[in-house]
Amino acid sequence: MKVTVSRRAHFNAAHRLYRPDWDDAKNDAVFGKCNNPNYHGHNYEMIVSVTGPINPETGFVMDVKVLKDLIKAEVEDAFDHKNLNLDVPEFKNLNPTAENIVVVIWNKLRKHIASSLALEVVLYETPRNFVKYTGE
Ligand code: NI
Repeated sequence: MKVTVSRRAHFNAAHRLYRPDWDDAKNDAVFGKCNNPNYHGHNYEMIVSVTGPINPETGFVMDVKVLKDLIKAEVEDAFDHKNLNLDVPEFKNLNPTAENIVVVIWNKLRKHIASSLALEVVLYETPRNFVKYTGE
């Protein structure tokens, strides 16, 4: 028997999608408004889910308080009100697309969660656009 425990979290951040090795025309063609040189912001929402057996001693899959504190330390404190391109070292040489952000978040959380538990992160860049990563 396995149960999934989820925690919803939030951060605001700015980004710009572009490749420095492409000229302006190609960056505009591929990234559109997200290539705005002056950056733009998103209200990111994420749902972090941990799946595994219920520990018979505690009745928990994972203590949600621990998960909450982990998300705060690894994601909210690192990304909230930051410019992802300029302020967050993981994106110094990595385009901060929703796809790349969700993988970075997953990797930051994975190393603090017991390997017996499965981890899934869903990241909403807008209410309608979201990505999911499970480590595959
Ligand atoms: Ni954007």
